[in-house]
Amino acid sequence: MSKRIIIGITGSIAAFKAIQLISDLVKMNYTIDVLMSESATKFITPLCIQSLTKSKVYVDTFDEEEPATITHVDIAAKAEAFMIVPASANTIAKVAYGMADNMLTCAFLASTCPKIIAPAMNIHMYQNPITQRNIQILKDTGVYFVEPDEGLLACGDVGQGKLASESKLIDALEYVLAPKPLLGKKVLVSAGPTQEAMDPVRYITNHSSGKMGYAVAKAAYNLGADVTLVSGPTYIEKPFNIKIINVMSALQMFETITSISDKQDYLILAAAVGDYRPKNISNEKIKKNDDHMILDLEKNKDILYYLGQHKKDHQILCGFAMETNHLIENAKTKLEKKNCDMIVANNLKVEGAGFETNTNVVTLITKDSIENLDIMSKKDLAYEILERLMKEEDKKC
Ligand code: CTP
Repeated sequence: MSKRIIIGITGSIAAFKAIQLISDLVKMNYTIDVLMSESATKFITPLCIQSLTKSKVYVDTFDEEEPATITHVDIAAKAEAFMIVPASANTIAKVAYGMADNMLTCAFLASTCPKIIAPAMNIHMYQNPITQRNIQILKDTGVYFVEPDEGLLACGDVGQGKLASESKLIDALEYVLAPKPLLGKKVLVSAGPTQEAMDPVRYITNHSSGKMGYAVAKAAYNLGADVTLVSGPTYIEKPFNIKIINVMSALQMFETITSISDKQDYLILAAAVGDYRPKNISNEKIKKNDDHMILDLEKNKDILYYLGQHKKDHQILCGFAMETNHLIENAKTKLEKKNCDMIVANNLKVEGAGFETNTNVVTLITKDSIENLDIMSKKDLAYEILERLMKEEDKKC
């Protein structure tokens, strides 16, 4: 269902980035009321925004067309989240002190929904203790800040002040909008491939992109969990708000996970861990000699199996199984052998499933159920998986 949000745009050169953000959020099915400060209209026009949202953009508090309602109160009451993006030092200062002198600041004060502020300004304006104090005032009232990125700023200075990337802004929005049933729970997720070194140049790996594991970690964080993501090497943008431990080999992943697994409530192992590693890692580059080469491999420890053997009563353990045949049979064997609460099984050969895709087609297998899910985005599937795991946890209580 469409979520209704407010985006407030203020007078910063980064206002042009709000156009792309709004365009993308509209495509993601958000209903958006946009409020602009007078200064914002010097950078971009209300018409531009209105053409994207297909609804009126408000600037003046007294622009009251509908006598039956008071616009800033009405818009605020309907919003499920309020995001000021970009937020200038001036608007941050005003809302920190409860000033309500334009449509944006009036609606901000009138709204009771979760609020996000994404500042963008000159580095010295941002670092000024006055701005920092105003930010702290707002943080203390529960406003979620998306800190600016570092880089070359429009003014020519280099440092922190660039509007945070769009993916961070959307992550923050999804976080404040989500319910928090996992509050107080610790969730560990493994993701991505492992790299098993042969020599200083080469390694053995697999095609895992890490997308599924990252989606699960993000969804668990959005649902309120304290998430630790143990990630093999991936090209995915790192979620800015989640604890990530980067590892390379299966052995490092085993050591990292087992050193913190006792403290976790949910263990969700989506990583494609290399089953074998070269027995000896050559210190020097291996030179080619003969027509063929024999590489001596030894087995890696199975992290999921280990966690199953050491599972605490309250813990929920979820593994993944990627098969090319006998999907259900193999996954059921894995569920039992590795003492899991659930296996997320998929067939690599089914269209829409696989490593690099943004979608997946899976079967969720628990001790007493087998559920085939339709094709869906990895993001939606992540929430489905967590919902099922929460049910498994309920069964234990
Ligand atoms: N896994 C693990 N440690 C390993 C290997 C796999 O934790 N050394 C986990 C994966 O993260 C995944 C599940 O085990 O959750 C995959 O099960 P597995 O039996 O290893 O699947 P395959 O590697 O496909 O094994 P097989 O070749 O026997 O089908």
